[in-house]
Order: sequence, then C-alpha cells, then structure tokens
Amino acid sequence: MNPAPPQIERTPFADLDSQPSEMTAMLLAALEAMGRHPEIRRVRRTAMEALRPAPGARLLDAGSGAGDVARRLAAEVGPAGEVIALDYSAATIAAAVEHHDGSNVRYMTGDVSAMTLPTDSVDGVWCERVLQHVDDADRAIGELIRVTRPGGRICLIDTDWASLAFDGVPAALAETVVADMHGRLTPRQLDMGRTLRRRLVAAHLTDLTATPVTCFFSDPASAAVVLPMVNPLVPAEAWMTPPGVREEWLAHVDAAGERGDFLAILTIWVVAGTVAEK
Ligand SMILES: C[S@@+](CC[C@H](N)C(=O)[O-])C[C@H]1O[C@@H](n2cnc3c(N)ncnc32)[C@H](O)[C@@H]1O
Repeated sequence: MNPAPPQIERTPFADLDSQPSEMTAMLLAALEAMGRHPEIRRVRRTAMEALRPAPGARLLDAGSGAGDVARRLAAEVGPAGEVIALDYSAATIAAAVEHHDGSNVRYMTGDVSAMTLPTDSVDGVWCERVLQHVDDADRAIGELIRVTRPGGRICLIDTDWASLAFDGVPAALAETVVADMHGRLTPRQLDMGRTLRRRLVAAHLTDLTATPVTCFFSDPASAAVVLPMVNPLVPAEAWMTPPGVREEWLAHVDAAGERGDFLAILTIWVVAGTVAEK
C-alpha cells in the first residue's frame, strides 16, 4: 500500500504565523470562543476523565493554542505539578502568555512532530485538534509517546469532519459547501478522529478508551463558533464556490435558524491510552 499523501493544501492552523496578521488574530479569537462553547467544554470534560491528571504530575499540552486547557490542567496537577504548553506558532504562544494566570504553566514554541523535550520527561499528554493539521499524524504520535514515561497517559482529541451533517438546509447545497472547505478551512484528513484508536493500537498503548462525542448545534450562531462554513464572518475570499453559492447557502442557514429547524452535528473523538514499557 502506498503511504498516505501529505497534506499539501495545508489548513491555516498548520502554520498560523504564515497567515496575514488579521487572519491569525481572527483564528486565535475563534479558538478562544471555541473553548467557551458548551459542546467543546463537554468534549474537554470527557478528555479530562480519560487523561486522569494526578496532583504533582508533569503534563504536556501539545498544540496548546490559546492556553486555556493548559491552565485548566495546571489547576488539576496543583503547585507540585507542571504543565508545558507547546505550540508551533510563536504568535499563538505570545497570545497564550498574555492570558497567563500565574499557574504552573511553561509556554514554549515547538513542532509536535520533532520536539526538543527529553525522552520520558512527562507523565501525560493532552493533544486537542492538532493531529488533523499535521502532515504525518503517526510521526507526531510517536513523538508524544517518546516524551511520555512508561505508565504515563496520552489523550488525543480530534475531529471527524466526515461526520459533519446538517438538517433544515438543502442537502445538495450543504454537500457543495462542505466539499469546498475541505482541504482549506477544514483539513483534507477528514476522518482523523475515528483513526485515533487504530493509531494508538498500532503504537501498542494499553488501557485504551475511545469516546465519540457528537456535538449538536441547534442554531446557526452556536454552530458558527465551531463550523467555518456557517460562519458569515469567514470572508468571501476564503470560499472557492462559484459566485452566489456562499450567499445562497448562508441565506438558507439564516432561514433555518429563524424557523427554528436548523441542525448540525459533528463528532469529536477522545481517545486515550497508557504508554507501555519501552
Ligand atoms: C485547532 S487549534 C487547537 C488548539 C488547542 N489545542 C485547542 O483545542 O483549543 C490547532 C493548534 O495546533 C497548533 N499546531 C499546528 N501544527 C502544529 C505542530 N506541528 N506542532 C505544534 N503545534 C501545532 C496550531 O498552531 C494551533 O494552535
């Protein structure tokens, strides 16, 4: 079998620092808004139960974005513990540092696929909605395992974009719009979430748990926080659909919202396992 092709058309999240500064600012604000969304908070509660952070533990938040999860993890491990918030984007790390609350978080830039952290140096890893953006998820997972001590736990959280479905809007139009965004605002790797368990089985992790959390959005404003294709603030230049399609689609989304029958669902997987002796 041929190896999977790399993500040639990369999402903005693959390299936030190469985006125009207004785009980076918009995406960082979007990350913070997602962190406040009740459905993302539900995903995170599931992940916290799967990771089981212990007081005094040293944890890594790989691809830490706005840093809100790293600070939440720091509260769990307490003053005797430590959390390393690592992100590829220097602008993202700078924004996360601005929100620092004095907790035991150390912020650093780095590539999850080639980290400078020593082998066996952390007790646990949280990696949320990052692997869908990297070129080689198994290589990144290998790195996460390398830096985690035997007996430590790794928790991967990722979207299954292929699970995205709508109701209350014309199905054919939804299909066109969703296909338009894949590979750009949403990743080409549509099924990352559902592949996580297989990847951890192949990497010989034990005590696996895999939980699909299906996020449910019953109005367009709530959905727009997580789904770029229903967000009217995503500029028209980011769309590749023929002229008029974006406007027609957003009008249908609005109308469904007004009728009260808009519906969108998206499954995000929470998959965790324990690192065996190496
Ligand atoms: C969708 S955001 C998720 C951020 C955060 N984990 C959250 O759930 O809010 C993806 C993050 O992964 C980071 N990222 C992308 N590729 C990366 C890589 N190779 N190494 C480290 N971080 C990376 C991006 O800069 C961005 O902050």
